[in-house]
Amino acid sequence: MKITDNTILITGGATGIGLALAEVLIREGNQVLLCGRRKDKLLAAQTKFPSIQFKVCNVAEPKDRLALFEWATSNFPNLNILVNNAGIQRQIDFTKGNVDLLAGEDEIQVNFSAPVQISALFIPHMMKQQQAAIINISSGLGFVPLTIVPVYSATKAAIHSFSWSLRHQLRKTTVKVFEVIPPTVDTELDQGARERRRQEYRGIHSAEVAEATLAGLAKDEYEISVGQAQALRSGTPQEAAQIFARMNGNW
Ligand SMILES: NC(=O)c1ccc[n+]([C@@H]2O[C@H](COP(=O)([O-])OP(=O)(O)OC[C@H]3O[C@@H](n4cnc5c(N)ncnc54)[C@H](OP(=O)(O)O)[C@@H]3O)[C@@H](O)[C@H]2O)c1
Repeated sequence: MKITDNTILITGGATGIGLALAEVLIREGNQVLLCGRRKDKLLAAQTKFPSIQFKVCNVAEPKDRLALFEWATSNFPNLNILVNNAGIQRQIDFTKGNVDLLAGEDEIQVNFSAPVQISALFIPHMMKQQQAAIINISSGLGFVPLTIVPVYSATKAAIHSFSWSLRHQLRKTTVKVFEVIPPTVDTELDQGARERRRQEYRGIHSAEVAEATLAGLAKDEYEISVGQAQALRSGTPQEAAQIFARMNGNW
């Protein structure tokens, strides 16, 4: 698809992969809109790239999803690309029953319910555009889970399944559905936990994911697997079992 002259909303775009995507998309001549909870991060992104417009929004809240949709479509009627990028990752130990599960934010709301409901809100608007796209950021962990982040891994598997169905449902419309499958990326995501488990390898730079996404969009490559995520996405069941054992053996 055409990768210039689009109006693009990136949820959770003030940091990490979302901000790297914003940077390459602005470079290619697109208008970029961001949302997130932390106004200071959104303001910092706007200071770096002054054309950015943003709305403070918690995508876990249904009323905020609606407010985001109303703000974006009334102020930017040409909006034609939605990037469902906002995400959180939590370590949850089910041997403690529901203690960990209830102790923090709800990954299912942020990583799965939000993309589903935000997509549903925007699809009728997108279908009126000459070309449009929904880009869902999943993860290699949606294909081979990391068991210390079990709910996170499951939400990303769900995003893969949802993207596939949505792509088929929308195939006769102007809306293309892409899934970006990153490997480990060095961002703020679950940084505390990465420190606690002394994880030395922090992952690839978010700019690599952004460039791969842009190249995939230009080629209408609907599933964009980046770097090592390719092995997780496309390995045989035996290869997947070996990767699973390597990833989870010590935990
Ligand atoms: N880093 C990796 O290794 C990796 C690998 C594969 C996939 N991914 C996926 O890539 C996406 C981006 O993550 P990242 O690695 O770039 O981490 P990140 O820098 O932490 O970015 C996540 C963004 O989401 C926003 N966010 C979180 N909860 C939100 C909420 N309830 N409402 C609105 N915004 C919210 C955060 O901003 P606020 O806190 O200000 O709201 C933040 O800007 C996520 O979907 C993640 O699962 C990451």
